[in-house]
Amino acid sequence: MAEFKIVVLPGDGIGPEVAAAGVEALKTIGEVYGHSFAFEEKLIGGIAIDERDDPYPADTDAACQAADAVILGAVGGPKWDLKPKRPEQGLLAVRKSLGLFANLRPMDVAASQAFRSPLKEDIVSGADMLIVRELTGGLYFGKQSRTETSATDECVYTVEEIERVARIAFEAARKRRNKVTSVDKANVIETSRLWRETVNKLHAAEYSDVELEHALVDSMAMHLVTRPKSFDVIVTENMFGDILSDLASVLPGSIGLLGSASLGATGKGLYEPIHGSAPDIAGKDLANPIGTLKSVSMLLRFSLNLNAEADALDAAIEAVIQKGILTRDLGGTAAGSEVTKAIVAEIRAA
Ligand SMILES: NC(=O)c1ccc[n+]([C@@H]2O[C@H](COP(=O)([O-])OP(=O)(O)OC[C@H]3O[C@@H](n4cnc5c(N)ncnc54)[C@H](O)[C@@H]3O)[C@@H](O)[C@H]2O)c1
Repeated sequence: MAEFKIVVLPGDGIGPEVAAAGVEALKTIGEVYGHSFAFEEKLIGGIAIDERDDPYPADTDAACQAADAVILGAVGGPKWDLKPKRPEQGLLAVRKSLGLFANLRPMDVAASQAFRSPLKEDIVSGADMLIVRELTGGLYFGKQSRTETSATDECVYTVEEIERVARIAFEAARKRRNKVTSVDKANVIETSRLWRETVNKLHAAEYSDVELEHALVDSMAMHLVTRPKSFDVIVTENMFGDILSDLASVLPGSIGLLGSASLGATGKGLYEPIHGSAPDIAGKDLANPIGTLKSVSMLLRFSLNLNAEADALDAAIEAVIQKGILTRDLGGTAAGSEVTKAIVAEIRAA
């Protein structure tokens, strides 16, 4: 039996609680479906600064390099806010070291859950989108300079960088509802003009079966709020993706429900909930584990190619939500560990 190597980076705050939920779900899937997972826990973030004076120690990197996939809890907290070494440096370091250039964030609002959304139910009910954000180019990675009276941030994209992330979006669309919305600011910005040209060329050459539309980022912000159901896969550059994915993340009603995958060229990925370390609820067993469990479902799908197992986990999560076994952020009274236990029981019962 093949053994999958999974590195677990619990991190700070609620990170260890939610990462433990992910491990429990994978162990159960291993038992039920006959797979073997070897887990290795390593330091990242604030706890790594405390114990090693380094937010991303060399042995953590070596383990991540050797792994099939990495589960991350969350990093950061007030304890490290004013220190010169920052927990978030660990996050940037692992993404860079593993060459993770695409961040995937699915967001869906089931009809039965639409009442939780800050939007009107008829607008948001049934929305189901995947935002694919370019993660290693653009403004966040360009040269920066500063004088007394001015500041410059360079924004660079190459055809290769655009093509590889657009390919991930087109491939994902083929497994969903076959539509891609590419978001840019091509009426003003040169990198956006290259973005649009490159996406169009790739579409014509390899993905003409997928419906493609383009949207300008400013109008896209409005569309996400006024007609979120129109979108399937959305692909965009780093900064636009950062902003639009946060906007979309509030639609289901709790940040604790959403997971993410960061992928590179090799199939190896980093899987983490989109929320932070939530110091206000850490150590109280109040954290909603579902964002991490949704990330684990993507881990099964994208890094291990175990689609039936991912479907089983998704179905178990949905069943437990339907049964009303919910943490406090969703208006329930269950502890985080009770929600995990219920989801694991659903997997065994299926
Ligand atoms: N990827 C990451 O590791 C990541 C991402 C964002 C923020 N951070 C860090 O996390 C720390 C806290 O940041 P923040 O407060 O802005 O954001 P946060 O996401 O940690 O918390 C925002 C709010 O959502 C709640 N919340 C978050 N996750 C939840 C869950 N699973 N279940 C129930 N409620 C949940 C929190 O209690 C809080 O009220 C900061 O140090 C920040 O830098 C880390």
